[in-house]
Amino acid sequence: MLTYKRDHYCGLLTEKEVGQTVHLSGWVQRTRDLGGVVFVWLRDREGLVQLVFDTAVCSQEIFDIARSLRSEYVVTVSGEVRLRDEGAINRDLATGTIEVFVKDAVLLNKADTPPIYIDDKVDENELVRLKYRYLDLRRPSLQNNLRLRSKLVNLVRSTLDEEGFTEVETPILTKSTPEGARDFLVPSRLHPGTFYALPQSPQIYKQLLMLAGFDKYFQMARCFRDEDSRADRQPEFSQCDIEMSFIDEQDIQTVVEKVFARIFKEMKGIDLQLPLPRMTWQTAMEYYGSDKPDTRFEMKLVNITDKVNNCGFVVFDQAIENGGEVRGINAKGLASMTRKEIDSLGEYVKSYRVKGLPYMTFTADGSVKSSFNKFMTPELVETVREAFGAEPGDIIFFAADKKAAVLQSLGALRCEIARRKGLIDQNKYNLFWVTEFPLFEYSEEEGRYVAMHHPFTSWMSEDEEYLNGEMDKVRARAYDLVMNGIELASGSIRIHRADMQAKMFEMIGLSDEEAHHRFGFLLDAFKYGAPPHGGLAFGIDRVMMLLTGSESLRDVIAFPKAQNANCLMMETPADVRPDQLELLKIKVDAE
Ligand code: AMO
Ligand code: AMP
Repeated sequence: MLTYKRDHYCGLLTEKEVGQTVHLSGWVQRTRDLGGVVFVWLRDREGLVQLVFDTAVCSQEIFDIARSLRSEYVVTVSGEVRLRDEGAINRDLATGTIEVFVKDAVLLNKADTPPIYIDDKVDENELVRLKYRYLDLRRPSLQNNLRLRSKLVNLVRSTLDEEGFTEVETPILTKSTPEGARDFLVPSRLHPGTFYALPQSPQIYKQLLMLAGFDKYFQMARCFRDEDSRADRQPEFSQCDIEMSFIDEQDIQTVVEKVFARIFKEMKGIDLQLPLPRMTWQTAMEYYGSDKPDTRFEMKLVNITDKVNNCGFVVFDQAIENGGEVRGINAKGLASMTRKEIDSLGEYVKSYRVKGLPYMTFTADGSVKSSFNKFMTPELVETVREAFGAEPGDIIFFAADKKAAVLQSLGALRCEIARRKGLIDQNKYNLFWVTEFPLFEYSEEEGRYVAMHHPFTSWMSEDEEYLNGEMDKVRARAYDLVMNGIELASGSIRIHRADMQAKMFEMIGLSDEEAHHRFGFLLDAFKYGAPPHGGLAFGIDRVMMLLTGSESLRDVIAFPKAQNANCLMMETPADVRPDQLELLKIKVDAE
C-alpha cells in the first residue's frame, strides 16, 4: 500500500516530469465527476495540479475513492505525468499544461465541509476567516506571505550577522517601561499583589547590553502593547531591535540601510539608491502635515496665514485671530469632483478636529467658485491662485484652525484624496529618514510634556539652552525610517550619563522618588561606565505589510488578533479557573 511520503510537490510539477511516475500528497481543492472520468485538483504548499482518475488507468477500487473525495480531504496518490491535449490546457494554473493520471491512491483523512472557501478569489468575511485561521492559512496568498516573512527574517539575520552583530534574547517577564502605551500585566504567584509587565520593546535591556560591552546587538523581539488596534497596529508584534556603542546617527542609519537594500534587492529585485534621502521633521510637518509623509504624490500643504490675514472671510480671519493658521492643498486637475465627493471629504476631515472644509474651484472654463462665495473677493482669489499655482481644473481645499489641527487634517486629507482618486503609484517605494524630531511633545491628556520618542533619547547639544523653558524648541537625536506613509522604524542616540538621564526624568515631570522606584537600576547602571550608544527598531510586520502590498498586518501574521484584541480562534482573552485566581490572590470585580 502507498505510504504518504511523496516525492514531488504538486505545484512544482512541470513538463520535465512528463512520462515519470510521481507520488503526491495534499488536500483536495475540488473535484469534477464526468461519469467515466473524475478530475481532482490536488493542493499542497506549492500549488495545484490536476489529477485524472480514469478506469482505463486505475482500478475500480481507486476510481471509487476518487468519487468519494470532497473538498479538503487529505489524499496521497501516485501516477504518471502526462501532457494535456492542446484544448485542455489551463492557462490560469501554473501546472496547467500537464496532469497526473492516477494509478494508486489512499484516502488519508476526511474533512467536514469547510466554513470558508480556500480560495484567494473568494472574499470571505474576515471574522469567519479569523475563527478558522488554520483553514484561512491554507490560502495561497497567506502561504506566500508567511514564506516571504521567513525569508525576510533570515535575510535580516544574516546581514546583521555579517556586520558583526550578536543576537541576544531578553526577558518577556519584565518591568513596566514607559513607551507610551499601556502594559500587559502578568500577576506573580510567588509574590502575590505584584506584577510583571510584558515588554513593549526591549529598550532598556538593549541599553544595558551596551553597558555590558556587547557593542553591536540585535534581536527579533516580540513586543506587547495594550493599545487600540488599527490596520498597522497589533497588540502583539515583532521588531528587529538594534543597538550599537561608540557610534552616531549616521552609523546606525548606514547599517539599517544595508539591511533594507538587501531586503529590497532580494525580495523585490529593486536597487535602493543609498544613502537614503533625509527630511527633517519640521519639513515633513510643514509640507505633508505628517511625521511619516507619503511622498508618492505631491499635493503639498501651503501656508497662506500671512497672506489671508483680514481677507474678509470670517472662517480664515477668526482662525488667525485665535492664534491659528490657514493652510491648503491644491488637488490638481480634480475640479470636476462632485458635490457629493466634496461633502464626503468634509465629513472625513471632521475626525481631525477641524470644523469644516472650505474650498475654491478653478473651473475649466476659467471661472472661480468657492464654498464661501459671499466672502470671496478678487484679491483673495488672486492670493490663492498665486500661492497654490492654481490653474483651471484645480480645486483647493483649506483648513483654518489651530496649527496642529490644520496640519493633521490636511495631512490626512491629501492621503485620502490620493487614495480615492487613484493618484498613488503602487509600484513606488519611497523610503527615507525623518530626522530632528522634537524631544518633547505636550500631552493634553496628561497635562504635561512627555518624551516624543522615549525618555532615554538624548537631545541635540546645540538645543541644550532651550531645556529650561522652551521645551518645544529642543530637538532630539531621533530618527524614523518612513515608507509610503508608514513609520517602519524608529530610533535614537541615547542618553548615557546618569545626570542627563535624571534631568530628562525631571523634565517630563517624573519625581526623583518615582524615577528611582521605576528606573533605579538604570540610573545605577549608568554609574558604572556606560558607553555612548544608540539604536533603532523596525517593525517586521509593517515591513512585510508593505512588501506584500497587504491592507492589514493581519495578512502577514500567522495568528493575529482581531480589531478588539481578541483571538477569535482560541477565544482569548478567556476566564481562568477560580483556583488559579486564588493562588494569585486575585479577586475579579468585572460585570
Ligand atoms: P517604536 O515604539 O517606535 O520604538 O517601535 C518601533 C517600530 O515597531 C513597529 N511597531 C508596531 N508594529 C505593529 N504593531 C504595533 N502596535 C507597533 N508598534 C510599533 C513600528 C515602529 O516603527 N524602543 C524603541 C526603538 C528604539 O528606540 O530603538 C521602540 O520600540 O514599525
Ligand atoms: P459657511 O460660513 O457656513 O457658509 O461656511 C463656508 C465654508 O467654510 C464651508 O466650506 C464650511 O465647511 C467652512 N467652515 C465653516 N465653519 C468652519 C470652521 N469653523 N472652520 C473651518 N471651516 C469652516
